[in-house]
Parts: sequence; C-alpha cells; structure tokens
Amino acid sequence: MKAAIRYEYCTPDLLEIGRMSLPRPGNDEILVKVKATTVNRTDCGVLTGKPWAIRLFTGLFKPVRPITGTDFAGIIVDKGDNVAQFEIGDDVYGFFDQGLSSHAEYVAVSTKKAVLKKPENVTFEQAAASLEGSHYAFYFLKDLKLNAGDRILINGGTGAIGNAALQFLKHFNVRVTVTCETEFVEVLKSQGAERVIDYQKEDFTTINEQFDYVFDAVGKSSFEKCKPLLKSKGIYISSELGKNWQNAFLALLSPLMLGKKVKFPLPYTIKRSMKFINELVLNGEFIPLIDRRYKFEDIAEAYHYVLSGQKKGNIVITFD
Ligand SMILES: NC(=O)c1ccc[n+]([C@@H]2O[C@H](COP(=O)([O-])OP(=O)(O)OC[C@H]3O[C@@H](n4cnc5c(N)ncnc54)[C@H](OP(=O)(O)O)[C@@H]3O)[C@@H](O)[C@H]2O)c1
Repeated sequence: MKAAIRYEYCTPDLLEIGRMSLPRPGNDEILVKVKATTVNRTDCGVLTGKPWAIRLFTGLFKPVRPITGTDFAGIIVDKGDNVAQFEIGDDVYGFFDQGLSSHAEYVAVSTKKAVLKKPENVTFEQAAASLEGSHYAFYFLKDLKLNAGDRILINGGTGAIGNAALQFLKHFNVRVTVTCETEFVEVLKSQGAERVIDYQKEDFTTINEQFDYVFDAVGKSSFEKCKPLLKSKGIYISSELGKNWQNAFLALLSPLMLGKKVKFPLPYTIKRSMKFINELVLNGEFIPLIDRRYKFEDIAEAYHYVLSGQKKGNIVITFD
C-alpha cells in the first residue's frame, strides 16, 4: 500500500510517499481502507517531534511509527477474531493523538481505541475532519459550568479548535462573540456566532463588553490582556501554555484567586470526546469547517500549509 513515511523527526520536505506491506489486523483490530484523513496540528507535532514533550508518547529519539497520521474515515475490509461490534463493510472513523499511521491507503486500528461507526449523514471527508480540533475543543470547554445565555468570547474562530468550540457552544445555547479575518465574518455568523469581530479591523481586547468566559483558541493573547473583558468571576482559558508557561501556573494558582480565574484543561480519553462529537454530528449540530483538500501524493504540501498557521478549520487528504 502507499503510505506517508519518515524514519526520523523531520520537516514535511523529508516526508515521502513510499510502499509498505498491508497491515494484518490483530485479534482486536479492524483493517480500514482509508477514504479520507486530515493533516492537523497534532500531525505536525508527530511529524516534527516538536514540542519536545510529544516525544514522550511518540518515541524519544525517533518516531516509533514511521507512517504519520492521527485520524481517518474509511471502510472496514478485514477484522480480527475478537471484533464483534463491527462488520466488514462498515464505514468507520477514529482518532488517536499519539499517532495511528493513518496517512496510508490502509490502517489497522485497535477497537479499544476511539473508533466509531461513521454517521450516515456526513461524508468520509467530513467525518475525518470532525475529530482532532473538536477533541481539544471538547476538553477546553468540558469543565465550564455553562448556562444558556452565558457569554463567551472565542479568539480565533477559524482554527480547528475555535471553530468546533463555536458550534459546540451553540449546542449549549451560549452567546458567542468570535474573532476572525474579514473573509470569514459571514461564515462564522452563519455558524451561530452572535457577534464576529474582524481582527484585521478591531482589537478584541479593547471592546467595551464583558463575558463569563474568554477562550483564546489560538493562544495568541494572555490573561492580562483579556482580564478587562471578563466579568468579576469570569474565566480565561487558553489552548497554549503562554509565555513562560504562565497559563499553566496561573491555572494552578487560580483556586487561591478570589475573582477572575484561569483554567488550563488537559485533554485525556478520546473515547469520551468522540462520543460527544458523534452525537452532535448525528444530530446535524456539528459540521466541520473544511478549508483545502489535497491528494494523498501532495501531503507534504498540506503539512506546509498547516504549519503556516493559516488553515481555516481542517485540511482533508483524499485518496483516489
Ligand atoms: N493544549 C493542547 O492540548 C493543544 C492541542 C492542540 C493544539 N493546541 C494549540 O492550539 C492552537 C490552535 O490549534 P488549531 O488546530 O485550532 O489551529 P489552526 O487550525 O492551525 O488555527 C489557525 C487559524 O487560527 C487563525 N488565527 C491565527 N491567529 C489569529 C489571531 N491572532 N486572531 C484570530 N485568528 C487567528 C488563523 O486565521 P488567520 O489566517 O486569519 O490568521 C487560522 O484560521 C495552536 O496554537 C495549537 O498549537 C493546543
């Protein structure tokens, strides 16, 4: 089968499309013919080994898995003896943030991992694009005591995480203000944002409004800058550690703070986030934003685009 292969942590230029033998499914595994996968920010970490902490999970000195890829949507073509919940021919999708080797024509996946039947109301491309950013969005928002009518500001509504967060918050009837560039203002309004701030025209930290939560989904701002936007007991959440890991330290100190607080949630079991995502997909409440589609052979180009930090939502890789 064709696969995207590298044996060292590297830049996209050194990622090669090569041939690997077809994986044989183990007793608890399914063999999936991949119809669509994505290149996402997690893939960039798995490819480059940066930030260094990711190597604790993907291999300290070199990648444990030569084939890249963390998510997939496809059709089961074979299965192990112990697999009872899936049948050959089922459409499935799944994600694993430490690497799945899914940038390939076929992938063997343990059914103990986060893999579910693909909802019929979405395409393979949409299913593959439903997972990575949404998984993080779920965990960043999960511990907030959200009430209908609460107000939240999301910095970065066109990121994979920010865009999934916008749609999830609509599910909870939370009032969302979001930032993005001019071209996407109408798109985000159509996805349910109450107000969209064009960051090319206005600095969101200077608006004269207050929110229950500020979620910096692109990690480009700080608690200090966003503090005036928060109500007296408001909470700041960021997707990034911030300068000198300040968001993690502020989150640790937050129980001692009387007023405004910082949360820095860590994502864990994907089965839990995927269950939530799957329900929203089934209900038609979440449709992932898809930016560009690349042919599998052009996957290095897709990586370059994702690493540029300019993708809008998700980048899909398709196979003939
Ligand atoms: N803590 C964790 O566990 C964790 C896990 C995964 C990712 N992350 C981090 O979370 C961040 C977001 O990830 P992602 O996958 O959502 O990223 P992404 O999809 O690559 O986000 C890129 C998008 O953000 C927009 N953007 C960039 N700067 C902006 C700004 N100042 N204001 C408004 N929009 C801005 C870009 O739009 P323009 O082109 O218009 O600027 C682009 O559409 C990344 O920094 C990533 O490293 C954290």
